[in-house]
Amino acid sequence: MKELNSNFLWGGSVAANQVEGAWQTGGKGVSIADVMTGGNKDTPRQITNGVLPGATYPSHEAIDFFDRYPDDIQLLSQMHFKAFRTSIAWTRIFPNGDEQTPNEAGLAFYDHLFDECLKYGIEPIVTLSHFEMPYHLVEKYGGWSNRKLIDFYVRFCKTVFNRYKTKVTYWMTFNEINNQANYKSDFAIFTNSGILSSSVATDDRERIVYQASHYELVASALAVQIGHEINPAFQIGCMVSMIPIYPKSSRPEDIMKAERAMQSRYWYADVHVNGHYPAWWQQFVQAHHFDLDITSEDLQTLAAGTVDYIGISYYMSYVVSGAGSGDDYHYDEAADFKSNQYLPTSNWGWQIDPTGLRYVMNWLQDRFPQMPQFIVENGLGAVDTVAKNGQINDTYRINYLRDHIKQMKLAAQVDGIQVLGYLVWGCIDLVSAGTGEMSKRYGLIYVDKDDQGRGTLNRSKKASFDWYRQVIMSNGDDL
Ligand code: BG6
Repeated sequence: MKELNSNFLWGGSVAANQVEGAWQTGGKGVSIADVMTGGNKDTPRQITNGVLPGATYPSHEAIDFFDRYPDDIQLLSQMHFKAFRTSIAWTRIFPNGDEQTPNEAGLAFYDHLFDECLKYGIEPIVTLSHFEMPYHLVEKYGGWSNRKLIDFYVRFCKTVFNRYKTKVTYWMTFNEINNQANYKSDFAIFTNSGILSSSVATDDRERIVYQASHYELVASALAVQIGHEINPAFQIGCMVSMIPIYPKSSRPEDIMKAERAMQSRYWYADVHVNGHYPAWWQQFVQAHHFDLDITSEDLQTLAAGTVDYIGISYYMSYVVSGAGSGDDYHYDEAADFKSNQYLPTSNWGWQIDPTGLRYVMNWLQDRFPQMPQFIVENGLGAVDTVAKNGQINDTYRINYLRDHIKQMKLAAQVDGIQVLGYLVWGCIDLVSAGTGEMSKRYGLIYVDKDDQGRGTLNRSKKASFDWYRQVIMSNGDDL
C-alpha cells in the first residue's frame, strides 16, 4: 500500500462560537449562536428572542478560547498538529453584519490566533460561516431568505481574504450547508440560514429553504472568485455533512428512496462542484411551483465559482425505507430516518459506521472524480470520567477514531482517492452545537467545565492525546 503524502494535513477542528466565548469583547456583535440556550439529548436548545436575562447561553463563555488560545495551540503543537481548523466569527469583524467598515479589534484577534498557529508550523484552515452569522441579519432581513445577505457575506469574505492572505491558504465557505435539507428542523434552518421557524408558514418552509440555499450558493461562488483574485494560491472548498443513506432492504423501492435521499442531501455539493443544478432538482422545484428567485446572472456566477476541494464532516449513517413513497420519493429527513440493526450507537443515538466513511468517500469520488477530499470533521461525542488520579481513559474515543482512520486510509491507499487531510472534530472539549452541552465531549484535551457552567476551565490531556500524537508522528501508520 502506498503511503499517505508526507504533507498530509493531520489535525483537529473547532468553530469560533463553540470555543471562543468572550461574546461581547472587542466590540463583537450578537451571533445566532449567542441566542441559543443549553439543552440536552431530550430537551432541544431554545432559540430566544434576543439575549434574555436569566437564560443560559453556552456560547457566551464556551471554553474561553479567546483568552486561552496561546496555551491551547501550544498543546495542539505537542501532538504535532499540521493543521487546525476554526472559523472566523463574522460578528467580531462586522458586529451587525451590514456595516460598511470592519471592526479592527476583531481582525486583530484572528491575526494573533493565526500567527500563533504558524509559529508552530500549524496550517490554519478557516471556515467563513459556521453556524454564527450576525443575529441582526436575522432580525432585520430574515436571514438568508433575503438576497441582500449575499452582499454582506461577500464584504465579510473580501475583508478577511485581504487581511489574512499571507497567513491562510485553505478556506471553506459554509459549514455543513446541506443540514438544511432537513428543512423541518428549526435548528437546521436557523443555524444554516438564520431563518426563524416562527417567521415562516409551515407549508412554505421547504421553498424558503431552497431560496435561502440558492443565495448561499451564489454567495459561495462569488467568494471563490474573489478569493482567487486576491490570492490565486488560495484553496477554497465547500463543506458538506456526509451521512450515507442506505436502503432498508434490497427492495427496489427502498433503493430508489435511498437514491433520492442522497440526491436531496447532496445536491449542494453538485452545485458547489459542477456549478449548476442537477436535472432532478430543476424538475422538483418546478413541479412544486417554488418559483424561486434565480437570475441568469446567478447561474453564470455559480458556473464561474466552483470550489477547489470538498470538505466533509462524517459521524454516522442513516437508513430509509421506500414504503409509502409516492413517485417522487420525496425525502423528509426527520420522518424517514430508520435505525440500522447492524450498527451500534453513541450515547446520543448516532449510528457508528466506520465503513460508511470509506463508502461516502468513494461515492463522492465517483460523482466528482477530479475533486480532492478533505475530512475536516470526524469524532465521537461521549461522556468522559476523570479518575481520582486525574487520568481520563477514553479508549472508546481512540477505538472510534482508529476505526475511522483505517477506513480513510483504505479510501486513500486502496481506492486511490486524493485526501488532503484528516481533522478530529472538537480536538479540545467544546460546546456541542446540537445540544449546547459540555458533557458531550469530543476532545483529546479535557476542559474542566460542566453543563451548568461550573469548573476551573483547566485543560488536561486524555489518553487519546498521546495516541493521536503517535498517529500523526507515524503519518497514520501507528494506529
Ligand atoms: C457538525 C458541526 O454538525 O457536527 C459542528 O459542524 C458540531 O459544529 C459537530 O459540533 C458535532 O455535533 P454536536 O451536535 O455533537 O456538537
